[in-house]
Amino acid sequence: MKLKFTEKGIWDEDCNKCGDDGVIIMHVDHTDYEHAVADFITKENYNILEIGYGMGISARRIQTLKPAKHIIIEKEKEIYDKGVEWAKDIDNVTLIHGDCINEIGKLTDKFDGIYHSADKDDVGRLLSFKDDIKSLAKENCKLVMLNWHLNNTLINKANYKKITTSDALKNRFGEPETNIVYTTLIDNDWKADDVNTKYTWIM
Ligand SMILES: C[S@@+](CC[C@H](N)C(=O)[O-])C[C@H]1O[C@@H](n2cnc3c(N)ncnc32)[C@H](O)[C@@H]1O
Repeated sequence: MKLKFTEKGIWDEDCNKCGDDGVIIMHVDHTDYEHAVADFITKENYNILEIGYGMGISARRIQTLKPAKHIIIEKEKEIYDKGVEWAKDIDNVTLIHGDCINEIGKLTDKFDGIYHSADKDDVGRLLSFKDDIKSLAKENCKLVMLNWHLNNTLINKANYKKITTSDALKNRFGEPETNIVYTTLIDNDWKADDVNTKYTWIM
């Protein structure tokens, strides 16, 4: 990866088919979604796990909600370093540098909320993440994943929480970012906790 950082976003310039800036890793236009997820999974004294620091937009919002513990795993060293710089005076944040696939097995905490926003990760890993992370989830833990729609095995077990987003987000990313797609650990299985949830996914 050849990362380019601006005030507006992070791009990987290695992708030569992706326009002048390269492929987008993260952009400020995604802020509404990041804040909505942070607000949804975090309550005071909760333990929160994030996969992917990005621009730290969700991380900053999570901190305003006073979690007990906040762990962030970030694969890219340059992005990780920015996270470390942000967190240097914050006691309850731990940044871990590495690929989540290797790092989650080393964690010993249990979490009330988990946000996986490493959306460009290998599809197979996105599909298996829910199983990889289950033993670290507390009962009633909420799991949110970006690009959840890739996960057909969970799609009917998830809830879809409609959120309000700016036109900037819609124009840049389109659907499905207007929904937070989440599942809840109930009796050691990821389930929809709202039996009335009805949603038709349009692919
Ligand atoms: C969309 S951005 C995260 C956005 C972030 N929630 C925010 O609010 O700014 C995705 C991040 O995940 C990181 N990432 C991708 N694959 C990863 C992996 N396997 N393990 C850990 N981090 C990963 C990327 O380097 C990038 O920083």
